[in-house]
Amino acid sequence: MIELDAINSNNLKVLEVINQKTIPEEIRSFSPQYYKETLQIGPLAQYAYFNNVCVGAVRCKKETHNKSNKLQILSLGVLPAYRKYGVGSQLLEHVINSAKEIGSKEVYVQLPLALDSKNWFLGRGFTELSDSGNEETAILVHHLQ
Ligand SMILES: CC(C)(COP(=O)(O)OP(=O)(O)OC[C@H]1O[C@@H](n2cnc3c(N)ncnc32)[C@H](O)[C@@H]1OP(=O)(O)O)[C@@H](O)C(=O)NCCC(=O)NCCS
Repeated sequence: MIELDAINSNNLKVLEVINQKTIPEEIRSFSPQYYKETLQIGPLAQYAYFNNVCVGAVRCKKETHNKSNKLQILSLGVLPAYRKYGVGSQLLEHVINSAKEIGSKEVYVQLPLALDSKNWFLGRGFTELSDSGNEETAILVHHLQ
């Protein structure tokens, strides 16, 4: 059974562990601000529990340009032993629903290609921006309206 729940100050350290276990050190760069703000963004940061064990997390950031909202996925990870059980998809579904609730026009992720999850996003409604990535990253966008 997969359940999602908010991240709070008592369990924030778990986010660090999930990031360590899901994102290779050479491309992992989460500032103290990233962790601090995680506690201030409510449902835009969530843990995923698989049979009551915390196995994944997503952390987004809301951006507003010209009165229009976008959600950026800053991190999304599921511990290797718990992959392919639908946990990542459920976290992503939560992100898409949250984006709709706040009237976002899109959800995007600036994905380091070293993560090898580009096809995972492409299979879930994301398309690649042809002109804005570079050799190391791709920008993948899910349009909502
Ligand atoms: C990408 C990730 C979150 C997926 O989590 P997950 O819980 O395994 O995802 P789901 O179980 O919902 O999806 C599994 C499906 O996607 C497929 N899949 C898994 N990883 C994939 C990949 N890298 N590329 C393409 N397809 C993939 C599986 O084959 C499976 O397909 P099926 O449903 O047809 O059997 C997880 O692999 C992960 O944490 N990766 C490392 C971190 C990362 O890349 N984060 C992304 C942005 S920061």
